[in-house]
Order: sequence, then structure tokens, then C-alpha cells
Amino acid sequence: MIRRFLLCLSPLLLLAACDQAPDAPAAAAPIHDPQSFSDPAAVRITHLDLELTVNFDARVLSGHADLSLNRVNPAAPLVLDTRALAIEQVEGKTADDWQLLDFTLGEEDPVMGRALTIPLPAGVDQVRIHYRTSPQASGLQWLSAAQTAGKQHPFLFTQSEAIHARSWVPLQDTPQVRFTYTATIHTPPELKAVMSAENDPADHDGTYTFAMPQAIPSYLMALGVGDLQFASMSERTGVYAEPAVLKAAAWEFADTEQMMETVEQLYGPYRWGRYDLLILPPSFPFGGMENPRLSFITPTVIAGDKSLVSLIAHELAHSWSGNLVTNGTWRDLWLNEGFTTYLTYRIMEALYGPERDAMERVLGFQTLQDDFANLPPADTVLAIKLGGRDPDAVFSDVPYEKGALFLTWLEQQVGREAFDEFLHGYFAHFSFQSISTEQFLAYLQTHLLDDYDIPLATVEAWIYEPGLPENHPVPQSDAFTKVAGVQQSWLNGDTPAADIPTADWTTHEWLYFLNTLPAQLSAAQLQELDSTFKLTQSGNAEIAHAWLLIAIHNHYQPAYDRLEDYLIRIGRRKLIVPLYVALMQTDDGKAFARRVYAKARPGYHPLAQGTLDRIVGKP
Ligand code: BES
Ligand code: ZN
Repeated sequence: MIRRFLLCLSPLLLLAACDQAPDAPAAAAPIHDPQSFSDPAAVRITHLDLELTVNFDARVLSGHADLSLNRVNPAAPLVLDTRALAIEQVEGKTADDWQLLDFTLGEEDPVMGRALTIPLPAGVDQVRIHYRTSPQASGLQWLSAAQTAGKQHPFLFTQSEAIHARSWVPLQDTPQVRFTYTATIHTPPELKAVMSAENDPADHDGTYTFAMPQAIPSYLMALGVGDLQFASMSERTGVYAEPAVLKAAAWEFADTEQMMETVEQLYGPYRWGRYDLLILPPSFPFGGMENPRLSFITPTVIAGDKSLVSLIAHELAHSWSGNLVTNGTWRDLWLNEGFTTYLTYRIMEALYGPERDAMERVLGFQTLQDDFANLPPADTVLAIKLGGRDPDAVFSDVPYEKGALFLTWLEQQVGREAFDEFLHGYFAHFSFQSISTEQFLAYLQTHLLDDYDIPLATVEAWIYEPGLPENHPVPQSDAFTKVAGVQQSWLNGDTPAADIPTADWTTHEWLYFLNTLPAQLSAAQLQELDSTFKLTQSGNAEIAHAWLLIAIHNHYQPAYDRLEDYLIRIGRRKLIVPLYVALMQTDDGKAFARRVYAKARPGYHPLAQGTLDRIVGKP
């Protein structure tokens, strides 16, 4: 505790972490979460029971949410987060009687939505909220049959992280509150529902029940509904997907069980029972989302050669870093994403060898350097000052790659064995807790820094300063050095494209080759690359992305039909946003971007729409 107090005196530290008495118990210390209206120090949700009907015609979920409460301060009202929810009625339960309760909905805040305040009579420790969602709910995407692989049935999925759970369930939408949940979901009889809970692969004719026995934060609430089938990959891993993609997905991700065993050996048991994947339609705005027991996955990583499976390693790794030990507020996101990125590298190294790991680290480091070139310095800090900003608007690779680089640096200071032991202990110590950056630092100091005489100040520089400390590790790959050599020779005109030894190149080498080409290439060079390697037609979504970016920068017209198809079919933000940004830099690009965006926008997720409305303008 003394250490914690000293930490709070450090000028580098943000005030937010120090607004409690220095002797407050570390694990229970309430931290103010500026992205939530709730006051978990006064009342806490302990369990959620949900009953919802999925109406595809109206694009509405309707039903009720029962919240069990721990009333720490019996005088305090229950304050919940909501966004665009129609609240129909609120009841409270005393002993065995339900009574109607008053409630008020506060003013609409553009980032946070509206506070739902429910004064609680004495003895009420459960409330039932009858409500319906809006067709525009920020955390839901309703897809028409045409937007799915099978084209026969509609599809619905949720994306709750960071603060979108409140758009489909009224709850305390802060990662500081953990609760267990049960749910009953009514679907059209031909469609299956799956959740971030125990799933039963059998068809249940329109009524699906779920239980999530481990306490989770709200951002891990998840639901998917569609024409889904299940394929088993091992005793505890499997895939849910539309029939048309099921086989390819089960083949692509067959190494999932081995990935699990790798993490278990390093960092302790998997605590969630099964680990399944849900393959979403291509409009899913992320690569993946670590919904517990059931990661949500973009189909754009089904490349046919397992070259993009680090995404699975990443979402799986969150079962330790994120789902087990959780960031306390969105300012601490790097505790989720930086640790997970580090774990991902370790999984890739263990399963596929040091060369692949090295290539992935170099590619990650490149994205970090791009961010350093483009972001205001204050947003390159790990413990970022979010203020009242929307976490979606602040999203970058910094918490991922700088976080992972920091942990790699720590590993190098103490040696791998000691660092593995430290992380193993960290996940055990804070399991099923949500912690702040400062709680991590206090633990790090007593469990590692002190033993190795590493000054806290060197670590604080990583956490609280922009950019990178001078002695940061620099990832290196021999395979990429070779690619750079032959790339130079091609650029000099010494080696024709046909003689570049690409036969044994992996996706990573292609990405490195394309990403490091000069911004301006001649028409002849573009044509030579394209006719030799068929890049415009690449079936690998990442390689196609890298090539299309080059095509835009160089106004390479033969790629523009593919570009249009790509932007209409795929909704993953990481793959499409940079293409629109590049297009918006020239007049003819702008015209193309606006025309294509008008066509593509109805198929994008609300989150992608929001991002692109800011970049391209609302059509
Ligand atoms: N949890 C994140 C996605 C996320 C982060 C959603 C913050 C909302 C706010 C997920 O695990 C993730 O990092 N996805 C990446 C995967 C990649 C780094 C392998 C993505 O979608 O690109
Ligand atoms: Zn992640």
C-alpha cells in the first residue's frame, strides 16, 4: 500500500488513479469510468437474466432484462446505461412480489447515450426492465439474406465492445462490473441463436436458452442469429458458420486446440470450458472479437492456407488477457490488447516457429510506426487520456503493438523463464477481476521489478510517455531482409518481376514486399507486377488490400473494378478505411469513393458507417 501511495505521488501519474485513499484495497479500488453513467460503488449488477425475441422484419429485439443487484449503498438509485432503447416498463421484486417502479431517462449524450435512473424502494434487489431496441442500435447489425454467404436467410450479430452493449441491453456498461448471465432467445424457427455462453449445437426450433456461469463484463455480452451449422474441431473446440463456409473454416482453424494447449502450458488453465468460433458475414467491422467461449471471426481470414490464423491466436489469448484479467476502464485498453498481442506472438512462435513470429512482429511494428507518424503524440501513450471521447474514435494500433513491445522489452530484461512465471502469476492473481494500469504497475513492482532492480521510472516511461523509449526492441526478420534485397533489385530494373523468387513466399512476405514499395510506381511497373502475380485478383483479403492501396496511390485503373467489389463486399474497418482515406486524397478518387460508398454504406455495420461518414461524408 505504501508503494501504491508513492506511485500516486509520481508526477507522471494521471490523477484519476489517485483519487482514493492510499490504503484502499488494491483489487477492489473503484475507479471512475468516464464512459459510463453507472455508480458501481453504490449498486452492482451481479446477474442478468435476459429474454428477447428477434424480429428480423422490424429489426428489433424486444423483451425484458432481469437484473439482480448488490445494493452496497441502500439509499442509492440504480443508474444504468442505455442508448436508443425504448424502455416500456420497470418492475422491482420484493420477496416474491413484483411492483411497478418509477424511472427516468436522462438527456441524450452523443457518446454515452442516456442514463436510466431507477429509484429503488427498500428490499428491492431485483429489477425487470421491459424494453425494445432501435433498428439503428449501434451494437447490432441486421443483415439481409443477400448479405450472407448462403443468400437464403437474414443474419444478426452484436458487437458490444467498447460501449455498445447498452444499445441492446440496459446495464452497467463498464468493464468494472462483472456479472453472470442466463438468457432465452426466440428466433424464427429456421435460424439458430448462439451467445457468449454455453452453447448447444443442436437446433431448437426457435427457442434457445443459455447460461454463462463465469462473471463477465458487459462488453463481452454477445449474440449471433443466422442459418448456422456446427463443425467440431477437437473435443473442446468447434466452428459455427453458415453451411457454405463451414468446411473451409473448420479446415483453416484446425490448429485452435493446439493454440489452447500452448497458452495453457505457458500461463495456466483455460477457465471457460469450450472454445468455439462463430464465422460472421464479411460486413463484420472487426477481424475478431473475443466473446467468451465463442469468438466472433471475420471470414476475410479464411485464406485457404492458414496464413492469417494469428487472428484466432489473438482472440483465444484474450481468454486470459482481457476476459480473465480485464481492463478497468477504456483508458486501460492496453492491458487487454497489448498483453493479448504479446501472447499472440508467443503462440505463433511456439506453433509455427521463430521465423513466422519474427515476420509478424515486424509487420506489427510497421503499423505502430504508421500510427506514430499520424497520431497526435498524446494518443501514442499506453495509458491514454480518453477524457469523454468515444473509445471507437480513439482506436489505434498503439495499445496493441506498443503494449506488446513493452512486454517484450520486460521479457528481455528478466529473461523468458522469469517473465513467463510472472505472467502466469499475474493471470492467477487478478483472475475474474477488472484492474487499472496502476494496479498492474503495483503488482509488477513487487513481483518483478524489485527482484531485478529495474527502476519504476523506466517502466513508467513506457506507460505514460508518448512514442517509444530509446532502448526499445526492434523486431527483425531475415526473411524480410531477403525480400527487401530482391525488391530493390526489381526497382533498379536489375531483376524482372518474373525472376523474383516468390514461389515459397508466404502471405507475410507478400505483405512486406507490397507495404514497403515506394509510394509512386510507374505504369509499367504496376502492370508488370499485376500481370506476373495477378495481384488485382488475389483471393487473400490482406494481400488484395495492400495491392489496392498501391493501385489507389498510383491511379492504376485496371484494379478499380476489383476495388469497387472489395469495398462493397467487405465491411472490416481495418481493410476498408485506409482505402477510402487514400481515395479521398485526390479529386477523381473522391468522386469514386463517394459513388462507391453510396452503394456500399447500407451493407456496412453502424460503426463502420460512423467512421466512414466522417471520412467520405454521409451520402
Ligand atoms: N477486442 C478487440 C476488438 C475491439 C477492440 C473492439 C476495442 C472494440 C474496441 C479484438 O480482440 C481485436 O483486437 N481485434 C483485432 C484483431 C487483430 C489485432 C488480430 C481486429 O479486429 O483487427
Ligand atoms: Zn484484441
